[in-house]
Amino acid sequence: MRISLPPFMTLSRRRFLRGAGSLVAAYTLADALRLARADTMSMTMPARMTAPTLAAPKEPLLNPTSLTRFVDRLPIPPTAHAAGKRAHPAYPDRMLPYYRMEMRAFKARLHRDLPATPLWGYSGLSPGPTIDTMRGEPLLIDWVNALPTQHFLPIDHNLHGAERSQPEVRVVTHVHGARVPAASDGYPEDGYAPGHSALYHYPSAQDAATLWYHDHAMGITRLNIYAGLFGTFIVRDAEEQALGLPSGDFDLPLILCDRLIAKDGQLYYPVSDDPSAPWVTECHGNAVLCNGKLYPYLDVEPRRYRLRLINVANTSFFDLSLSHEVPFKQIGSDQGLLPVPLTRSRIELYPAERADVVVDFSDMAGQSVQLHHRSEAIMEFRVHDHERRDTSALPATLRSIKRIDPASAVRDRVLTLGELDDANGNAMAMLLGGKRWSDPVTEDPRQNSIETWSFVNLTGDAHPIHLHLVRFQVIDRRPFDLFAWNADRTLKFTGPAQLPPPHEAGWKDTVRADPGMVTRIAMHFEGEPGRYVWHCHFLEHEDNDMMRPYQLLPEQTG
Ligand code: C2O
Ligand code: CU
Repeated sequence: MRISLPPFMTLSRRRFLRGAGSLVAAYTLADALRLARADTMSMTMPARMTAPTLAAPKEPLLNPTSLTRFVDRLPIPPTAHAAGKRAHPAYPDRMLPYYRMEMRAFKARLHRDLPATPLWGYSGLSPGPTIDTMRGEPLLIDWVNALPTQHFLPIDHNLHGAERSQPEVRVVTHVHGARVPAASDGYPEDGYAPGHSALYHYPSAQDAATLWYHDHAMGITRLNIYAGLFGTFIVRDAEEQALGLPSGDFDLPLILCDRLIAKDGQLYYPVSDDPSAPWVTECHGNAVLCNGKLYPYLDVEPRRYRLRLINVANTSFFDLSLSHEVPFKQIGSDQGLLPVPLTRSRIELYPAERADVVVDFSDMAGQSVQLHHRSEAIMEFRVHDHERRDTSALPATLRSIKRIDPASAVRDRVLTLGELDDANGNAMAMLLGGKRWSDPVTEDPRQNSIETWSFVNLTGDAHPIHLHLVRFQVIDRRPFDLFAWNADRTLKFTGPAQLPPPHEAGWKDTVRADPGMVTRIAMHFEGEPGRYVWHCHFLEHEDNDMMRPYQLLPEQTG
C-alpha cells in the first residue's frame, strides 16, 4: 500500500506488528492516517491505535525545488580557539586549554534567495565551531546559556522534564561518543536556564574519532537540536596521523540534517492537531542542510579529500551517493577507523551515526560531482584543474580491531524497544525495556566488565540506539518470533544470526536496531562509575521516554 503524501510530508511508513508477527495494518502520521483509515483498519486493530495527527503548518512551506541550486559556498565551521589555560582539580599537575561556548540566538541565510532564518547556535553559529583535540589532551569547556528565556519551537508540557514548572528554555551539552566522567557528560536532567553555565572537562582519553556535541535537555532535546544546537568534536591521535590520510584543508566535517522551512525562511517544527499535546513521533524535513546551507557547493582540487559525514537530523536517515559513479572509500565509522578502507557506492546514515570517507577527485578535474541523498542532489563539488601536489595516502590497512568475544560477557541484558498508547490514546510514548525514564535504574553494569545487550525490537521501525560513555561492537542481528514474545516473553529465533556488514564491524556508539530483529552489541564498560544514559537517537522518541538512565557501578575488588 502506498499513500501519496503532500511533498513536504515525506513521512516514513510505519507498521504495527502484532499477533503472529503478521502485518496487520500500515499507517503513517498526518492526513495519511485519515486517508488510509478506511482501507487499512482491520478488525484486529485496537480501537485506540492512533498516532498523533499532524496539523497543517500555519505558514506555507517552501517548495525546495523552486530554489536555485549550488549558489552558496559550503560553510566550513571555524575551529574553536581556547580562551586561555586553567587549572582543574581532576588534573592536578597541568593547565588545561579553556574554551567558552556561548549559546545564542542569531539569524542566518540558509540559501541566497531566502530571508534570514532565526536559529540558535553555539557561538552564534550552526553548526557551531569545531572542537579539535588530540588523544590524551584534556580540555575544559564552559557551556554558557545566553539564549532567550522563551522557546521559538512548540514545547509539549506533557513530556517528562518539560512540565510548566520548568524554565521553558534549558540546555545541557553532551559530547556524543566521548568517554567523559558522569558529571561532565551532560545528564539530561542537569539542564539550566539562560544566564547560567556549566564547566565540563573532557579527558580525551580515547582513540581518534569524529564525535559531535549537541544539546540534551530533558523533554526538549528535539527542539534545541532542531533550532541549531550542534557541532563537531574531533579527536585525533598519532596512530591515525601516521597514516598520512588527507589532512588540513582537505579534511572537512560535513554535517547533514533536514528541516521543514517555511516560505518566509522560518524553521517549521511539526505539531499534532492537539494544541495541548503538540508532540509528534517523527520529524522529517523538506530540505537537507549541509553545514547549515541548502544546496551548497564547494570548490575542490583534483585530489583526495577526507569528509567526516555526520547525521544530526531528528529522525531522518540519509542515503548518500556521489554522481559520476565516484565511490566513497569509507575509512571510519562512529568511533574511528575501520580495519581497512571500504569501497562503497552508497552510505546509509541513521541519526547520530558518522562515516569518515575519503573521496578521490583526481580523475574529475574540470567537472562537477554532486552528493545525492536518494535521487536528490544536495550539494556539489566543483573540481578545479589546478592542484597543489597531493601527498596524502590511503593505506590498505588502517588499524586492527580486536573483536570482543561475546562469551566473555558477564551478562546479557535483553531489552525491548516498544511503543505505548497513553491514556488518551492520541500521544504514544516510546519505551525501552518496557520502562519509562522515571522508573528506577535497571541497567547497572560494573566498571571494567564486558556485557552484551540484546535489543528486541517490538515496533515496526528501525531505531538508532546509542549508549553514552562506551564504544561497542555489533555482534549480530537475528530475526525472532514476535508472537512467541508477546505470548510469554520467550525469545524464539526464526532464522540464523546475521553478522554486521564490514562498515558496521568497527567501533560504534549508535546502532540501528531493525524491526523484527534482535540486535546484539558487546561492550567493555571502561570509564568512571556514575549515572549515564542510553536512548533511541530519534529525537522525538528520546524526548518521549525512549531514554533510560544507567548506572555504572564501581569495579568489584577482591
Ligand atoms: Cu547524541 Cu545521548 O546523544
Ligand atoms: Cu526510536
